[in-house]
Amino acid sequence: MKPRDRRTPMWCKVFVTVGLLCCELSAAAPPSEIVVDPEFTEPIVNVTVPAGRNVKLGCSVRNLGTYKVAWMHFEQSAILTVNNHVITRNPRITVSHDKHRTWFLHINNVQQEDRGRYMCQINTITAKTQIGYLNVVVPPSISDSLSSSDAIVREGANVSLTCHVDGYPKPDIKWKRDDGAHININKSLTVSEWAEPTLELHRISRLDMGAYLCIATNSVPPSVSKRIKVSVDFPPMLWIPHQLVGVPLGYNVTLECNTEAHPTSLHYWTRDSGQMLVDSSKYKAVSVQGNPSYKVQMKLTISGVEHTDYGVYKCVAKNSRGETDGTIRLYTSHPPTLAPELQRTENPSPSGIPALGPQWTTSDGNDLENGTSNNNTNANGDDDDSRLNEIKQSEQKYRKPKNSGTDSQKDVTKNSVPRLIPTATSAALVLTAVVLLQMQPFLCSRKRCSE
Ligand SMILES: *[C@@H]1O[C@H](CO)[C@@H](O)[C@H](O)[C@H]1NC(C)=O
Ligand SMILES: *[C@@H]1O[C@H](CO)[C@@H](O)[C@H](O)[C@H]1NC(C)=O
Ligand SMILES: *[C@@H]1O[C@H](CO)[C@@H](O)[C@H](O)[C@H]1NC(C)=O
Ligand SMILES: *[C@@H]1O[C@H](CO)[C@@H](O)[C@H](O)[C@H]1NC(C)=O
Ligand SMILES: *[C@@H]1O[C@H](CO)[C@@H](O)[C@H](O)[C@H]1NC(C)=O
Ligand SMILES: *[C@@H]1O[C@H](CO)[C@@H](O)[C@H](O)[C@H]1NC(C)=O
Repeated sequence: MKPRDRRTPMWCKVFVTVGLLCCELSAAAPPSEIVVDPEFTEPIVNVTVPAGRNVKLGCSVRNLGTYKVAWMHFEQSAILTVNNHVITRNPRITVSHDKHRTWFLHINNVQQEDRGRYMCQINTITAKTQIGYLNVVVPPSISDSLSSSDAIVREGANVSLTCHVDGYPKPDIKWKRDDGAHININKSLTVSEWAEPTLELHRISRLDMGAYLCIATNSVPPSVSKRIKVSVDFPPMLWIPHQLVGVPLGYNVTLECNTEAHPTSLHYWTRDSGQMLVDSSKYKAVSVQGNPSYKVQMKLTISGVEHTDYGVYKCVAKNSRGETDGTIRLYTSHPPTLAPELQRTENPSPSGIPALGPQWTTSDGNDLENGTSNNNTNANGDDDDSRLNEIKQSEQKYRKPKNSGTDSQKDVTKNSVPRLIPTATSAALVLTAVVLLQMQPFLCSRKRCSE
């Protein structure tokens, strides 16, 4: 080794500017004595690093002597450094060494184009090389400008949402609904998540309205997501739970219409004349938003129903897509009867008119029901079930002529203490009623027998 050590520096001093070529020539000269060839002592450690970091690759050698170590980028076929010299023009690359034993290639602010194989070479006669791999990873990112933005579509349209994602390794994309509900791709396919860059919704319905998340994930944290809101517009629809509502004079009553519309519709009530009803001591209209928010319950409360209040009411819902209305007819019904037994019976439904009970929103009515059902037996003493049945059937007949009953009913309503009728007059009334009640079925059944 020594003889060459003396000889080579001279070559190199002369040809120093020639660089690698000089050394190759010197190395190529036949050694006059036994020389120990340089060799690598350990492999290059592969490195995985997020873009933007600084990184160094180390190449460990021994017995380097006057040979040189060079770094190359394999894929780019570029010589980066030779010995202490940086050959490449890339300003992010430098070289350092640890007493000629480990040669470090430094890459600052690593970029995706730096990814690849790095070769460390010693300029022996047959060059010795080893290779290490630099992997540059990039966390996922979503390009807003290349992805779908919030959409407003008509019900029934096809909707296509795309998400443009970058990152390395290539990120996986999945779509989910923000509210966790399932995604309706088309009428025969419903999924909890959809793993494609594009989400196509066929014939979208109002049920598909909401926010969709496109979530991009690769091995590099953090995952990212984009929220895309899809609004589905449709003209108002309306349905009415009770189109016929019976209420006695003087009572309060609430009419109801249920609507669905998007965008949110304007709601109002009219009489059949078309006259719009405005809030007053008589009318109180409220719209209660439901869930989902395109559902709205319209309520109109009419206080102290008078004769002129009977008739037709219209609930109207209007939005930019259209308009619709529905009709409710308010008719006279009898107040709840005094006779306690009747409160226990089902609502009489003469001539097929729907049951009235639920449509009354007066608190008095409820009290009355409770009171009578709780304490009726005390007022009447023992009941006979078979007689009760007959009373039910004949209910229409005894009610009408009995003015006293109606009057006392009004008192009850006003006082709001329907279950207790402690006064002597009331007691007398009850007695009269009972007598009437007991007679009536007899008359009735007689009538019926005669028919
Ligand atoms: C570096 O990666 C290459 C290819 O992925 C592999 O063949 C080699 O063994 C790795 N080297 C080390 C030191 O892990
Ligand atoms: C929606 O897509 C279906 C199937 O691809 C097609 O048949 C239909 O015509 C499309 N509808 C609209 C409104 O584009
Ligand atoms: C529903 O969508 C899936 C996936 O795009 C498709 O394979 C299937 O044919 C569609 N079905 C109908 C009835 O359109
Ligand atoms: C009817 O409504 C009016 C006003 O809303 C209220 O003051 C009154 O107490 C109600 N009457 C009954 C019987 O509920
Ligand atoms: C009847 O009374 C009970 C208890 O006193 C009460 O919980 C219930 O709500 C009342 N029913 C009506 C219809 O008022
Ligand atoms: C029913 O009558 C009993 C005894 O007369 C009384 O103690 C009770 O409070 C009454 N209940 C109601 C709800 O009025």
